[in-house]
Amino acid sequence: MSNLLAIHPRTQLNGTFRGTDIGREVTVTGWVQAYRHHGGVMFVDLRDRSGFVQLHCETDRPEVYALAMTLRPEWVIAARGKVISRGGNSNSKIPTGEIEVEVYQLEVLSEALTPPFEIKDGVNANDDLRLQYRYLDLRRPELTKNFALRSAVTQSTRTYFIDHGFLELETPILTKSTPEGARDYLVPSRVHPGQFYALPQSPQQFKQLLMMAGMDRYMQICRCFRDEDLRADRQPEFTQLDLEMSFVSRQQLWDLLEGYVARIWSEVLGYDVPRPLPRMSFAEAMDKYGCDKPDLRFGLPLFDATETLRGRTEFRVFAGALESGGMIKALPLPDGSAFTRKDLDDLLPKEAAYFGAKGVAWARIGDDGTWSGPVAKGLSDELKAELAQKMGVGPKALILFVADKASVANGACSRLRLVAGERLGLLDKSKWAFVWVTDFPMFDYDDEEKRWVAMHHPFTSPLLDHMDKLQSDPGSVLAQAYDLVVNGIELGGGSIRIHQSNVQAKVFSLLGLSDEDIRSKFGFFVDALKYGTPPHGGIALGLDRLIMLLTGADSLRDVIAFPKTSRATDLMSDAPCAVDGKQLRELGIAITE
Ligand code: AMO
Ligand code: AMP
Repeated sequence: MSNLLAIHPRTQLNGTFRGTDIGREVTVTGWVQAYRHHGGVMFVDLRDRSGFVQLHCETDRPEVYALAMTLRPEWVIAARGKVISRGGNSNSKIPTGEIEVEVYQLEVLSEALTPPFEIKDGVNANDDLRLQYRYLDLRRPELTKNFALRSAVTQSTRTYFIDHGFLELETPILTKSTPEGARDYLVPSRVHPGQFYALPQSPQQFKQLLMMAGMDRYMQICRCFRDEDLRADRQPEFTQLDLEMSFVSRQQLWDLLEGYVARIWSEVLGYDVPRPLPRMSFAEAMDKYGCDKPDLRFGLPLFDATETLRGRTEFRVFAGALESGGMIKALPLPDGSAFTRKDLDDLLPKEAAYFGAKGVAWARIGDDGTWSGPVAKGLSDELKAELAQKMGVGPKALILFVADKASVANGACSRLRLVAGERLGLLDKSKWAFVWVTDFPMFDYDDEEKRWVAMHHPFTSPLLDHMDKLQSDPGSVLAQAYDLVVNGIELGGGSIRIHQSNVQAKVFSLLGLSDEDIRSKFGFFVDALKYGTPPHGGIALGLDRLIMLLTGADSLRDVIAFPKTSRATDLMSDAPCAVDGKQLRELGIAITE
């Protein structure tokens, strides 16, 4: 491959040289990051995934110097030389800043075209261009370090769970399409024209079958596929740390997971996670924060003003919502001075509109205690005083109201709370607020489809003392489900499962599946439950989200080596793409042109 490397293999990675290496003869390799001339000396910063080291090429070695003068950014080179001190030119800001390599042999291993953007941190290149040349973007130190961290976390994860008695097992990628959940990615079968495999949205049924198979504790770092609308924290193809345990209570599972996050946060960030982690019921999370993944790095709880206002206000917006069975949710801000009139007229209604809110009504309390704003006129002085007292606010306060059906009012106010948190500088990336959100409802009513849908998934067990209500009052049944939420991000979710086939059948039928549907979609699973099923439960953590949290990245894209765009495309390879007619015919797929 190279004369130099054949005789003198690379000594070590560039970023790892220190003062203690002075005097050693070494071979270094990497990409030319930068070069500088300084009166008869050519300095080259040579980068690899660990960092960079400075090469020093002198005119008194004319061959080396002449070759060094031809180097261009991103050329790949090897150099042999001696580690020397930089003396008075040491740079304590760079890990290798004390030393440089005095080069006496230099070899160009490959030249490079001029990259379409400069390979350095904080680069100001367009996102699409960076995705198209992903292999160049990945050379940037701030991205490279995310992947080194990702590798360390997956290794540590395996060790932790294997040490706790888990088996690392694999489950199929070509599986069966089942209803519920997100939309499937389908794979046509060539052998069975007109039939399809589905890529797994998660290994849910397989991991439960592994419990029925007696594997006791299963773990897998697995790829999942969901054809859903994408956002910064959602990719169509993502990785789960997937777990399942037999004969386990929620408490045991939580303890084990808390030990895991404490280990990772301590190893990666040196942060000591206080345990046990706090818990909050779904009902409390909705009431106080308007969502099931509250960011608890800061307070600013919401206030449900529905009952206080019922029958006591003529304000059209409020009265209208109450008449149609809605609610009035409020975000009281003790000091509203950070929000201008323009924010109230434009920014906040726009944010609230993401959740379908028709507007944001507001009131400011002046220094003298008088109320102003659209809400003020519609409330008596007595009611104003009562509201302020219940909300715990006084002069300087700003109160935001959304009146709508509960899901809209809660969603919009939870969004407004985050906007306020951000504006007030409360979303501190060095703070960690973990919380288990528990006791989710089993079912959610889908107004469009006019049927119950599973809030987690159809294999989740009801709370044991709620079993009786499955038939009589499904809407009130709570599930043994839990989410692990960190700084307002849903890191993981899981549940204790149904392990009795009759309960499973009842849940399927409540979800509107006919006996025939159950047979054809889940027959194998319901049968398996009848052959001796241990009580079991588990959880899956989003590994990409975990790394995103640990690195402080704003998007999953920065922690997935080859991510997709928000339109689910890979700009580098240009997937998805058309395939030729022959391939389609083989698959029995009709081409409509
Ligand atoms: P759930 O659907 O809640 O549960 O997924 C578990 C975790 O996976 C992550 N996640 C995602 N990450 C990136 N992009 C996505 N599109 C995406 N969707 C989900 C989240 C989420 O908390 N089988 C169950 C788990 C169980 O019951 O054990 C499941 O998949 O971090
Ligand atoms: P209007 O009477 O339509 O001018 O609305 C008065 C105020 O109420 C404006 O600030 C609107 O943004 C706000 N508003 C409108 N609909 C709602 C709603 N459903 N909830 C809260 N505020 C609303």
